[in-house]
Amino acid sequence: MSNARILIVGNGGREHAIAWALKKSRHVGEIFIASGNAGTSGIGQNVPIAPEDISALVKLADEQHFDLVVIGPEVPLALGLADELQRIGLRVFGPVRASAQIEASKAFAKSLMVKKNIPTAEYAEFTDETSARAYLQTCKHPVVVKADGLAAGKGVVVCDNKEQAEEALNYLRHSGGFGSASSKIIIEERLYGVEASVLAFCDGHTVSLMPPARDHKRALDGDRGANTGGMGAFAPISDLSVDDLAHIQKTIMQPMVDSLAENGTPFVGVLYAGLMLTSNGAKVLEFNARFGDPETQVLLPLLETDLYEVMIACIEGRLADISIEWKNAFCATVVLASGGYPANYPKGLPITGLDKSSEGVMVFHAGTSVKDDTIITNGGRVLAISAFGDTLLMALDRAYDHIQHIHFDGMHYRKDIGRTAGGVS
Ligand code: AMP
Ligand code: GLY
Repeated sequence: MSNARILIVGNGGREHAIAWALKKSRHVGEIFIASGNAGTSGIGQNVPIAPEDISALVKLADEQHFDLVVIGPEVPLALGLADELQRIGLRVFGPVRASAQIEASKAFAKSLMVKKNIPTAEYAEFTDETSARAYLQTCKHPVVVKADGLAAGKGVVVCDNKEQAEEALNYLRHSGGFGSASSKIIIEERLYGVEASVLAFCDGHTVSLMPPARDHKRALDGDRGANTGGMGAFAPISDLSVDDLAHIQKTIMQPMVDSLAENGTPFVGVLYAGLMLTSNGAKVLEFNARFGDPETQVLLPLLETDLYEVMIACIEGRLADISIEWKNAFCATVVLASGGYPANYPKGLPITGLDKSSEGVMVFHAGTSVKDDTIITNGGRVLAISAFGDTLLMALDRAYDHIQHIHFDGMHYRKDIGRTAGGVS
């Protein structure tokens, strides 16, 4: 197919990176992004429909007969956008609702992990608060308390002791405003180690791993401060060997995909395992049913194979027949965030320096929009500055050098991306 017309659903840095990678494909013509940002408007046409507005997206896709729809965020996946688009005969990259439950319900994901013996933390689930409190009294180890449903990254509390666990339960059930997302609570054993993000393309049966990545989730240097959506990432990380990855494929990724296929809902899209590398090997912290953000901003720049061809091979169940090539290089990204993020932050501040370019650097937009020909801030994570290097240090230096050109009031970013385990030592 040439001149394929594509709809990308989402408006973050991840979706800008997906649009950027698809634009390089020899098969791709027009790209539409719902709702996009100032960066995606330089690649394709933004459509003012929110990623959660399923009926409007289905109507648009039906009218436009896109050749491919790529769903970025978890919420439209959990709401069944892929199912509805498939029903009207469209090709969709992203899992159906039943498979997206591996992210939308932690209890569901855990039940499949237990069934397939996938290494993960010991856990118990509760709908009744009294039983949850009684259980906490019996726990001999520190725990993590989690809301079962989607909570925009805020539904997990890592606890040091029983008092914190009690407080976490109260917060998730009452004061945090999680609604039905916390009607079920998971209490699990706290794991220790360093984290890794292992993502894989999936066609329902076959799994093809991407280079392993690391996200930096805390707001401040030294992994201090509040949890965020992710303040930076790099890939590949050096603390997972080829053998480790083969083991992760065999004991974690493949069994999960097999399990969803056995359920009659084969997983097509990107399977993302958030792992803790413990002294007893890699254990799953969570599964996501989509590309990570900001991991995508370092992984897609490393992809050498045409992304459109990979996505179509996934949809057509032909992943085993193609070979996916990755650059023999490093990529790092640093997120520039609004002052105050991840708590309250202002919007609408002008951003300067976006006209500058540097070799090997890609500026991916997240929370940006255009007002009167000026690009302004429009979210917590504003930009992700990605850069290649033959070494990780080179990639990091390039990204940090480029950041010196960019400014908006209150801008903050971590200075130590890539300088943790598995990175520059
Ligand atoms: P989740 O959304 O389940 O990945 O949790 C978000 C973050 O909480 C993870 O990236 C970890 O940093 C932390 N976390 C989740 N589960 C655990 C666990 N069992 N032990 C330690 N940290 C955890
Ligand atoms: N970077 C974490 C996530 O995408 O969930």
